[in-house]
Amino acid sequence: MQQIDIIKAPVAEYVADFHSQFDEILATKSEWLQDAIERLNASTGKKVRPVLVALMAGMIRGGEPPKSSIDAAVLLELIHTATLIHDDVIDEASTRRGQPTLNVIYDNRVAVLMGDFVLSSALIGAISLGDLEVIQIISSIGRELTEGEIRQFESADRLRLSEENYYDIIRQKTAVLFASCARIAGIMTGASTPDKERLTQIGEYLGMAFQIRDDIFDYYSADVGKPTGNDLREGKITLPLLHALLETEDTPEGQHCLELLRERPITETAVAHLTRYAIEHGGISYAEGRIADYLRRAKELLLSYPESVYRHSLISLADYIGSRTH
Ligand code: IPE
Ligand code: IPE
Ligand code: MG
Ligand code: MG
Repeated sequence: MQQIDIIKAPVAEYVADFHSQFDEILATKSEWLQDAIERLNASTGKKVRPVLVALMAGMIRGGEPPKSSIDAAVLLELIHTATLIHDDVIDEASTRRGQPTLNVIYDNRVAVLMGDFVLSSALIGAISLGDLEVIQIISSIGRELTEGEIRQFESADRLRLSEENYYDIIRQKTAVLFASCARIAGIMTGASTPDKERLTQIGEYLGMAFQIRDDIFDYYSADVGKPTGNDLREGKITLPLLHALLETEDTPEGQHCLELLRERPITETAVAHLTRYAIEHGGISYAEGRIADYLRRAKELLLSYPESVYRHSLISLADYIGSRTH
């Protein structure tokens, strides 16, 4: 059994119900959409976000997570799915989860509409849940995510080199969704306000670590089910290169890298040079150190809850986020 399956074990039934509800909410009269949804389901992702909702709800309740939290997990995964469909159009990515992307199978226009369909399905689902706080959270996620992605483009264009700026962006584009999963798990289990705050904080730390790990994938050519090197091709400077550049800003080599990043398009030779530069100047180990910091903080907060199978799995989930290979 893979590490992620062991983590899911205490909520295996929940995950099964999650899958059938996810299919139901996307029922459609369009043949193309039907085909697209089948493809999405066949190339199933890791489902980290619904598992986070389930485990946190279980931990707070001290037993089986409530059914209502499955509805919420479906919505959160729908938002994630819509974001990926749109992200692949934006990044011109040809593979995702080891399969061709919808923008390749159809085209950009159809893929954008399909992403919108999935996103709107989430909003309808949020209304049926009937909880104002959940509706408020769900509807702000889209805004945060897109603002984060736009700020990333802006930073690439302006060559903005600050670690704080990088953390701010990944918080918006990734960690806000993890934090929302955690908070909603708290809402669905009637957690106290301080508990909801603490869960949100844990979710945010996990999300930050998750995105830094994802960003590291881009520096290697291992098979992660999606293209690598793409961030640099678009001039997006993620933590490993950012660290290397900040360390060597005043050297001729550092200045040369900045020149390469100012040019458009960024050539394959430049991508290869920048990738090597980041690795050789300790960028990957620095980023791994930051992942470890975020996960340590998340685990410290988790340990303030009573021991349970759910808490145990959440700690393993934190380890998995740090060490995952795809
Ligand atoms: C990919 O998310 C997008 C990022 C936030 C890095 P996942 O790695 O969770 O994607 P799937 O759902 O497992 O494919
Ligand atoms: C964007 O990050 C994911 C979102 C949260 C929109 P990436 O562009 O790094 O995601 P991948 O690498 O394509 O999965
Ligand atoms: Mg992308
Ligand atoms: Mg990425």
